[in-house]
Amino acid sequence: MDPGSPEEERRRQEVIDSYKVVCLCNKIRRGVIQRAIAGGARSLEDVKRQTRAGTGPCGAKRCGPVIAQMLRR
Ligand code: FES
Repeated sequence: MDPGSPEEERRRQEVIDSYKVVCLCNKIRRGVIQRAIAGGARSLEDVKRQTRAGTGPCGAKRCGPVIAQMLRR
């Protein structure tokens, strides 16, 4: 793959995004949630059970909408 190509840049950005914290309460990164969805999680409850994202003190008020959006894709 050509370094600096748009495809390589997109891959690089995906990796960076996977390290971003989605659930601030439990410090769960986007990549962890993506793996849960790829592994069969189909609802917020599934993601909560598998990753602990959404189980913090805010009750998924902050991360729930982001997780829901990820599930819709
Ligand atoms: S940010 Fe995920 S439970 Fe609070």
